[in-house]
Parts: sequence; C-alpha cells; structure tokens
Amino acid sequence: MITLNTDSILRKNIGLNGLSQKTLDRFFEKNKKAIGKVFKNKKKLGFNFLELPDNSALVRQINAFAKAQAKHKWENIVVLGIGGSSLGLIALQDSILGPLHNLKAKPRLFVVDNIDPAYTDELLKTIKAEKTLFIVISKSGGTTEPMIQYSVIRELLEKKKLKLSKHLVFVTDPKKGLLRPIAKKEGITAFEVPDKVGGRFSVLSAVGLLPAALVGIDISALLRGAKKMRESIKKNNSVCNPAFQLASIQYLLDKRKGKAMTVLMPYSNYLFRVGDWYRQLLAESIGKNLRSGPTPINALGTTDQHSQLQLYSQGPNNKFFIFMRLNAHKSDLKTADNLPKDIGFLSKKKFSTVMDAAYSGTMQSLTKNKRPNLTLTLSKVNEETIGELFMLFEFQVALLGEFYRVDAFNQPGVELSKVITKQILSEK
Ligand code: PA5
Repeated sequence: MITLNTDSILRKNIGLNGLSQKTLDRFFEKNKKAIGKVFKNKKKLGFNFLELPDNSALVRQINAFAKAQAKHKWENIVVLGIGGSSLGLIALQDSILGPLHNLKAKPRLFVVDNIDPAYTDELLKTIKAEKTLFIVISKSGGTTEPMIQYSVIRELLEKKKLKLSKHLVFVTDPKKGLLRPIAKKEGITAFEVPDKVGGRFSVLSAVGLLPAALVGIDISALLRGAKKMRESIKKNNSVCNPAFQLASIQYLLDKRKGKAMTVLMPYSNYLFRVGDWYRQLLAESIGKNLRSGPTPINALGTTDQHSQLQLYSQGPNNKFFIFMRLNAHKSDLKTADNLPKDIGFLSKKKFSTVMDAAYSGTMQSLTKNKRPNLTLTLSKVNEETIGELFMLFEFQVALLGEFYRVDAFNQPGVELSKVITKQILSEK
C-alpha cells in the first residue's frame, strides 16, 4: 500500500511558497476531467500503458518460458537495452532483489545500458558466455547502443560455437525493426513490446517482465499492484486522487511558485534506482518546450543529507521534494549498548528507527525553511507495492501531459543528437 502526506506543501505550513487548499480544490474542479481523459484517450493518443496489467496471457507465456529455461541453469542473464528498455528493469532489480543480488544469488542479472567500451569488455571477459542468456531489448530494434552490443555478443557466441537460438532472446516491436527478421531467420525467441506502448512506459510489458521472471521476480504480483493502483485512480473522484494530487501539486508549484525542479529522495537503497526510472519518465515525457518540464533530480536518504541538504535547505527555494519512506524494511539491525556516552541516545536503536528519525528531521527542517515537500509511504517493498508505484508515477506523468498541454508520449528532442552522431560515424 502507498499513502501520501501532503501537509508540507500547504500554505498554512510553509507560507507563500505553498499552495492553499482552496487553490488545490479549484484546480481539481477545473481539471478533474483530465483523469477520465487519460483513461479515454489511450487509443487516440496512441498508448496503452494502462492496459499492460491486464495481460495475463503474456504472464503465462513468460512464466512458461522462464520455467523452460531453468534446465540451462544460467549463471547470468545479461540484458542489452537503454532508456525505456532498461531503467524500469534496473529499478525492479534493485527494489525487489536488492542491490546486492549479484553477490549472493544466481542467475545474476546485468543490465548493460551503456556502451562504455571498458565496462562491456570487462563484463564479457568476466562472465562465461556458455552460462549466459543474453536478452536484447529494443522496441525500435535499431538503437545504436543495444545493436553494437548485440554485434560483439553474436560474434562471441559464434566464435565459441554456441547456439544463437539458445543464448539469445529478443524483446522488440511485433513487426518493425532490425531484430524481427534476425529472430525469424535464426529461430531466436522474440517477445513483443506492444506497438502503442512507448519505451519509458513499457516496464510492465515483456521489457521488464521477461528478465524479471527469469531472475525469480513474481510478475503476477507486480501487475496486481499496478492494477490495484490503476483502479484506485479510476474510482477516486476527489482532490485526494493520488495521481492527481501528485501531478497537480508538482504543476502548480512549478507554474505558480517557481519550483522548477523535483527532487525524488527515497530513504531506502532499494528504492534509489526507481529515481533513475522516474527521472527519464518525467524528463522525456514533459520537457517539451520552454514552459514545460520540471527538472527531475535524484537523491538518497540519508546519504545525501551529507551532500545535498545544505543546498536544499538554504540555497535557492526553487525545488519541490518528494520523499519516499518505508513502514517496514526487508530486514533490520539494532545497535548494541557499546557506544560512547556522548552518543548514548543511539544505543539499542534499530537502524530503521534511526533512518526514519533522519527522514523526519530532514522533512521537518525543509518544512521549517519553507521548502515544499510531500511524502510517499510504502508499507514495504515487494512486487505489489512496486507495481503500485510504477502505475502511480506513470499516471501522474500522463496527467502532467494534460496540464502542460504537451504530448507526453513522444521524444522529438532526442532525434537531432542521433542524426548528428550518425553523420559523424558515417564520415569516419
Ligand atoms: O522512452 C523511450 O522511448 C526511449 O527512452 C527509448 O526507450 C530508448 O531510446 C531506447 O529505444 P529502443 O527500445 O527503441 O531501443
């Protein structure tokens, strides 16, 4: 379960940097139709991320595939993909399996979302190709990064006389792109990224679900959580609708109070990489013209209290903060009664208690300094709550598209860089 506390964005608590309840109520009355519009317009706008949680046939297909792969006893799953084809999976890996998964369990999961030559080279020299399943994920099936990685991996598999159809799987557009014909010719299994789901909204399609299932994540529970959140957004016709609340506060703080940056600060290492996924979701979806696009910033509690907090507390008051905290951590530790007297108040304390106190201290200090902030509390981190979180943020961003009047589902601004890069490489 996810709950929201928005007290610290209110004018009565942070003065003129905050929003009055009246403003929020009025904005809701004027714009509540946007919720229905996001639900209704999904066909017209060309996206159907809202339908992904209903695809039980895909879940069955993926689970059957994962079960069949068990006989290979893969030591590694290596995913090649970038942007919307990797960030959701990385968030899933860290939140559900934990950031230390690769040290303690197999198959290990490596999401290679960059083309740093040394990193890729070192990885391929470290893992055994014989014991590895490579998944190439590219909706368009032609993106430079996964394609050049595919090239070296294919060569490696061929050199080692390993069967391509055993060691390679694709996730790509049902019809278009360069990977489809290769899959057909070589008998390589290829899952689909539904035509109308954009990359950064695709984590709940085969893009995230396939690798997740292969490393033991319960994908049915993930979709159940997403569905639960979608239904609660659908039926909540009040100013407290969670997605509307998040989107309207973010929009109004940007437009009326000059809070043009959004800092997402979880107090959990498990949730930290959700911030990378959210950063792309917000930036690529809403940053479309000179007047639209809060800049997303990632931070981690308590780590960044010792790095960013000075700026956040007393620097320019141009940021809106979203804290994330947990009611229950996966496990806990307790300090012994052996600390020096001066810090005796830390003795016999659970780490979770200290972390939560640090969150409260930071949250309250920002509130005292009149910095608008809200808190999302997750009952715990598991497949269901992460599914809820994905859907909440995706819907929030779809609503922001309505408020800023931009198409949240395209990214024309990244094309020029690709064209110039291609030109440079063609001339080499
Ligand atoms: O959100 C998006 O559409 C992009 O970030 C893409 O996911 C990214 O560019 C990778 O594209 P593709 O999956 O086609 O290789």
